[in-house]
Amino acid sequence: MTDAKPARKPIITIDGPAGAGKSTVARHLAARFGLLNLESGAMYRAFARKALNAGVDPDNPDSLERLARTTAIQLEPTPSGNRVLLDGADVTASLRDSAVTQAASRVSVHPNIRTWMVNLQRAMGIHGGIVMEGRDIGTIVFPHAEIKFYLEASPEARTQRRYLEAPSAATTPEAIREDLRKRDERDRNRAESPMRPAPDAILIDSTELTLDQVLARIESIVIERLSSPASGS
Ligand code: DC
Repeated sequence: MTDAKPARKPIITIDGPAGAGKSTVARHLAARFGLLNLESGAMYRAFARKALNAGVDPDNPDSLERLARTTAIQLEPTPSGNRVLLDGADVTASLRDSAVTQAASRVSVHPNIRTWMVNLQRAMGIHGGIVMEGRDIGTIVFPHAEIKFYLEASPEARTQRRYLEAPSAATTPEAIREDLRKRDERDRNRAESPMRPAPDAILIDSTELTLDQVLARIESIVIERLSSPASGS
């Protein structure tokens, strides 16, 4: 497939719960339209990794804020996903284990930590030309983004996908489902920027769709929006 670089540099946001397919879709869209793919969840994961390494309680916002003052997080988009640098060191391979996943979900509820992250994320998108995925990208980080998607899928479908991505004797579908349930609950119910679709987001429920079908739908919407002179307002 050839790249279709848009004439202007849009910001596309993809929000939704874990396991809905955001990362895969964002990666494909970035390649297709010549945009930078930025995974905001990887930033919360990197900070959680640092808190765990430093023995800082992920439920203590004051200690986390002190830690944040001496923390540098960078995302380097690659064709297979983001390379994540924490204080200059590549920590990408260590961000998916379950201790980090749980801690990321906990550090991300604190308003002071979110404010810091949102500022970093806005700086990354200042020149446009990005697809950023996360939970609050269309609502808080880039409320004026040109195109916003909210990708959903049933808990069963998301559990199944996560299990097939990394089947292992050490985990069961029930454990994955419980992990997703806890994270969804925290993401949806936190006081500060809870996960929810922006009023102008396009909702896509991928429960009954294949990846190709989701991509076809999203790509056609992007092409239509980017070729319409009225968009980007
Ligand atoms: O997308 P992910 O699973 O890598 O995200 C890890 C955690 O970070 C997730 O539990 C919720 C949090 N997160 C967030 O609060 N806001 C974002 N924009 C992205 C992720």
